[in-house]
Amino acid sequence: MLPFVPMKRIGICIAGLDGAVASTMTAGVSLIRRGLVGTEGLVSEAFRESHALVGLESLVIAGWDPRREDLHTAVLRNAVVPKDLLKSAARELRALKPWKAPSGAASRRHIQAARDIERFRRQEGLETVIVLNLLPTDAKADSIAYARAAAETGSPFINFTPSECGEESLSAIPTCGRDGKTGQTWLKSVLAPALRSRALRIKGWFSTNLLGNEDGRVVGHPVRGRSKIRSKTRLLGDMLGYEPFHMVQINYYPPRGDDKESWDAIDFEGFLGLPMQLKVNGLWRDSALAAPMCIDLVRFMDLACRHGGRGPQEWLGFFFKSPCRRDPRLPALHDFHLQEMALLEYLASVRPGRR
Ligand SMILES: NC(=O)c1ccc[n+]([C@@H]2O[C@H](COP(=O)([O-])OP(=O)(O)OC[C@H]3O[C@@H](n4cnc5c(N)ncnc54)[C@H](O)[C@@H]3O)[C@@H](O)[C@H]2O)c1
Repeated sequence: MLPFVPMKRIGICIAGLDGAVASTMTAGVSLIRRGLVGTEGLVSEAFRESHALVGLESLVIAGWDPRREDLHTAVLRNAVVPKDLLKSAARELRALKPWKAPSGAASRRHIQAARDIERFRRQEGLETVIVLNLLPTDAKADSIAYARAAAETGSPFINFTPSECGEESLSAIPTCGRDGKTGQTWLKSVLAPALRSRALRIKGWFSTNLLGNEDGRVVGHPVRGRSKIRSKTRLLGDMLGYEPFHMVQINYYPPRGDDKESWDAIDFEGFLGLPMQLKVNGLWRDSALAAPMCIDLVRFMDLACRHGGRGPQEWLGFFFKSPCRRDPRLPALHDFHLQEMALLEYLASVRPGRR
């Protein structure tokens, strides 16, 4: 039997459309569609045919941002995508301008956002609209407003930020989050379970970062960045079953822009109590890691929607630092290999033609 091929187009409403991650994602979709770049970094691509995942040509992107910059200007300002690659997508990106971000009384912002979503759905003839939260790290109240707008319009909600969004009141729609697990924390969730499995005892783990983009300015702030530090710290004890000395620092360092550098110094003990060390130095591109994950999440959330998914989509924990559970009393699953298994098991369970 041929797999079911959806003819519909999928709308994506992004909160924070002019931001580094959103603008990189939007430019990336446009460049991949034109065949100018490959699909490196896109996990979903391997399942596109087997699961009839939505094609990038069927994604319609819109969203809110108080900056109101057209996407071409935003992509240039964020300085992630090489300029010479952008030329052929310039006209398409210039034509995309964010809607005004909802303002006024915090308790009424979701109403304006919900109106935008409904208008977008109607005007573009979209069956499904997915709301993607890419607001600044500390924008908790606005994140809640967009999550409410998603719930009121029956739109799946992806929370890529560390903000809590009142998830307990979103059980009628598919949701996933929180806080994209892109670089240093992703490697931590690979290495810590590996050391644990070899019965090596971790005594201390020191993680530090340099980041110079707008998000770095927020997360490098001792108060505004608290939710990010919490989300980067919590998982180690959960994975090991004990709490080693663990320190996480993020330093705002503008000369690096979006190019993040991370260092991890891990002290552990082996046989006979002998001390050993591991050092990891990452030279990352922050938004280039995050953008394809957002595209993957949109495609997988559409799949969840087609299969009647509601509430937290645990199988998407693979993408998050603070993955949500259906039963919030259960400990979060952080080990990357277990998260990958959960993703693959879900995909096997919904594969077309499966008896
Ligand atoms: N590797 C990564 O880049 C990464 C990884 C994990 C999580 N995240 C999270 O993704 C989010 C976005 O990161 P970024 O680097 O794109 O940040 P950014 O600061 O570049 O973008 C945020 C955008 O949100 C806009 N904004 C502010 N208030 C708004 C409102 N009320 N409505 C609509 N838009 C509003 C801002 O104008 C800005 O353009 C952050 O919360 C960050 O913690 C990023």
